[in-house]
Amino acid sequence: MNIDILLGLQWGDEGKGKIVDAISPGYDIIARFQGGPNAGHSLEFHNVKHVLHLIPSGIFHRSKMNIIGNGVVIDPAVFRKEVETLGLSIEELTERLVISTRANLILPGHRILDAAYEHRKGNTKIGSTLKGIGPAYTDKAGRNGLRAGEILKTSFRDMYNERLKDHLTILRSYDFSFDISEYEAGWFEGIELMKKFRIVNTEYLINNLISHGKRMLAEGAQGTMLDIDFGSYPFVTSSNTISAGACTGLGISPKQVGEIFGIFKAYCTRVGSGPFPTELNDQTGNILRERGHEFGSTTGRPRRCGWLDLPALKYAIMINGVTKLFMTKSDVMSGFDNVKVCTSYISGGKKCEEIPFGSDDIEPVYKDLPGWKEDISRIREFDDLPVNLRNYIRIVEEQTGVPVTIVSVGPDREETIFRE
Ligand code: IMP
Repeated sequence: MNIDILLGLQWGDEGKGKIVDAISPGYDIIARFQGGPNAGHSLEFHNVKHVLHLIPSGIFHRSKMNIIGNGVVIDPAVFRKEVETLGLSIEELTERLVISTRANLILPGHRILDAAYEHRKGNTKIGSTLKGIGPAYTDKAGRNGLRAGEILKTSFRDMYNERLKDHLTILRSYDFSFDISEYEAGWFEGIELMKKFRIVNTEYLINNLISHGKRMLAEGAQGTMLDIDFGSYPFVTSSNTISAGACTGLGISPKQVGEIFGIFKAYCTRVGSGPFPTELNDQTGNILRERGHEFGSTTGRPRRCGWLDLPALKYAIMINGVTKLFMTKSDVMSGFDNVKVCTSYISGGKKCEEIPFGSDDIEPVYKDLPGWKEDISRIREFDDLPVNLRNYIRIVEEQTGVPVTIVSVGPDREETIFRE
């Protein structure tokens, strides 16, 4: 099998960017298959931190092809900013990056609609990143989207004006003030920049390369618990973040998929609204947030923090068919006398190990474990990790039945332990 998938098993921000960058040498192609600039994939090397929103995390490796797949929604204005701040030349970028003709565009109206919808929801708001993701996918499903392949057409401006008219009509019924013209200028500059890139039918490109023995890593964005179908709806994003999304978001068959790598943090975080059974609204939560720098890489919002939730992890492993687990941010958990993992829930007065539908009423049941205090960031061999951390990992493996094959002990590319 020449295609592997890597995705988040929690509520996003599991450290996908760092791990994709670290394992990229084993692949020829790195492809994003869903989401858009709501993502913020951080990676660090040579003491410099990079945050990618739309561009796949293999971009810093010279010989790799990076693909923005058909399932992604692209905001040309964000794309332009990202291209300008990456520190790579336009020649390097146009050589390494390819865009699907079928990827839908996030239009300036989508961003404003996102803000207007959230504004109207008041206390029940999703906590969206306000990047226009929901409205762009709504137009895609409603067959009103504009796609990357269309920017090359002479009628593109007219098509854009038609969509703008529709968006303005909807916005008139909202008590929401906005100025679209300022954003539009940067958006059209982004469109011009996109034209310098190869915009092709990436489903053919990928399948041809795979049939010639090339290897591809599909890079997920957000996390399983934010999936439009299987996440905590309606507090989710608007795409399929799960492994099945890689097939629809890139045009590949499930038969071609080999490994499915599931990334999880040693604890949990969530940004935005919605249920979070193991959330810690106390000093321990604050310590995790500060030590783990748990502030959104796209919005800067403080992330909610809590203990590891094993029933949710098992659910994500089941939905995705995860074959290997990668655990990140183990270093952040160093320093506690004791740590907890949630092993089941109490819901409706009964103990359960499955996530109940409409999960508002859930109390976590915890197992207490001894913590570890050592600075582990310089450790490179699994057997050198503190015994209590190895015990913690063993419990995750026993409970899930899936091996943990990568343990990340810091944000840098080098701070990674490969177990096989
Ligand atoms: P949207 O995708 O911007 O509409 O946001 C919907 C929900 O998903 C909100 O709770 C966001 O905070 C969350 N979300 C979206 N993208 C990410 C991400 O990349 N990491 C973590 N949370 C995200």
